[in-house]
Amino acid sequence: MLNQSALGAAANTESGSRLFRYEVVGLRQNAEADKASYPIRRSGSTFITVPYDRMNEAMQRITRLGGKIVSIQPIDALNGRNGNVSTEQKSSSATLETGQSATNPGKESKPMTQAKEAKADIPVNIYRPNAPFIAKVISNEPLVQEGGIGICQHVKFDLAGGDLRYLEGQSIGVIPPGTDKNGKPEKLRLYSIASTRHGDDLNDTTVSLCVRQLEYKHPETGETVYGVCSTHICNLQPGDEVKVTGPTGKEMLLPDDPDATIIMLATGTGIAPFRAFLWRMFKDGERSLNSDYQFKGLAWLVFGVATTPNVLYKQELEEIQEKYPDNFRLTYAISREQKNPEGGRMYIQHRVAEHAEEMWEMMQKPNTHTYMCGLKGMEDGIDEALSAVASKNGVDWKEFQRAMKKAGRWHVETY
Ligand code: FAD
Ligand code: A2P
Repeated sequence: MLNQSALGAAANTESGSRLFRYEVVGLRQNAEADKASYPIRRSGSTFITVPYDRMNEAMQRITRLGGKIVSIQPIDALNGRNGNVSTEQKSSSATLETGQSATNPGKESKPMTQAKEAKADIPVNIYRPNAPFIAKVISNEPLVQEGGIGICQHVKFDLAGGDLRYLEGQSIGVIPPGTDKNGKPEKLRLYSIASTRHGDDLNDTTVSLCVRQLEYKHPETGETVYGVCSTHICNLQPGDEVKVTGPTGKEMLLPDDPDATIIMLATGTGIAPFRAFLWRMFKDGERSLNSDYQFKGLAWLVFGVATTPNVLYKQELEEIQEKYPDNFRLTYAISREQKNPEGGRMYIQHRVAEHAEEMWEMMQKPNTHTYMCGLKGMEDGIDEALSAVASKNGVDWKEFQRAMKKAGRWHVETY
């Protein structure tokens, strides 16, 4: 096996964007290898293209799969340019002699981070409640700006050293410490993942959540009650350990089609999966990692929050809108500042009613997906708004909605 110093040589001379080709033998063909899209060759050698900044992670994964790295070559070297850092030149040149396309190595193997996830490859329940992964908190940042209501945090966990992988739209479980009122260990609570599969640092080893601290007045005593798990998460400090399970959920996945129309209806922390979608669609670092997903369709986010300082991820959302005005539309429903046509609080369903004709038209296209995430309470109002436009067009909304569900184009996760 090549040692770290071989990688160190690369690290000193190469930039993070360079690609390297690993020749690996002894890789077990199993579910994980399948997921990573490693092309296992009959000769026994597997060739994997890895970006420089994923080299350590690739080594760990290969080791876990019982593989032995026999050479590492920068793709430039395979193309006959400078920069060969392999310590095993002989076997590397043998690689070229086996007749692979040296000018286009990506043809045999994609970087792991670009591996296209087939439907069967959706990771679920890698970590279960009886054996959770212990993640470390990297950061915990407030999302509510000054003057806003309540506490909502963006929390990033370190997943290094584990197997937890996930896709945009999935959730993870968090098990808070302590016992419940019956003296039993606290049960897990689910949280939608707010980061892309690559994580906020684009190194495939983090997961981020968007968590609001539950706070309410006890209906009988009037006392302020704080939710157990949300308070635990919102109070976490960098370095703290957290029990994490999952991932779970297949309901909110993003289609592969880069030309799709994606309508996203969110209230409050319901923004979490849509942040992951939008980052995957529009963030520069993400776009460079996902060569097979260069979004050029239309994404429309309708976002309901209480006040302007409660617009979670406001700056980044507005930056995306500015940069991609033809591909990203952003509509707010700011309940305590804007009024609906009847003079009451402006909720997301009022915005849906306002744009119902346009949404209805979009929904007629077979590659339009509609997603709803956040408060359960919004569902009826949204149904009502869309029922009205459907019946105006002579269609029964319930039937239409059922057909969209069946076609995997109607996605709901409310809590
Ligand atoms: P607990 O201590 O468990 O208290 C909750 C209980 O308090 C309720 O069951 C109810 O009995 C009581 N209660 C709550 N409100 C009131 C009230 N107004 N009046 C009287 N009693 C009340 N949350 C996020 O913040 N971000 C997310 O991204 C997110 N994603 C989710 C995804 C899914 C799929 C699901 C199912 C839930 C998600 N949640 C999310 C909610 C989350 O799982 C927890 O339910 C939430 O954090 C509260 O948990 P807790 O432990 O803090 O509250
Ligand atoms: P409001 O609290 O002003 O009544 P949160 O961040 O607390 O999850 O709330 C997100 C937004 O969802 C807030 O603007 C809240 O409005 C709004 N909201 C509350 N109830 C409903 C409902 N039944 N339908 C749609 N939006 C709602």
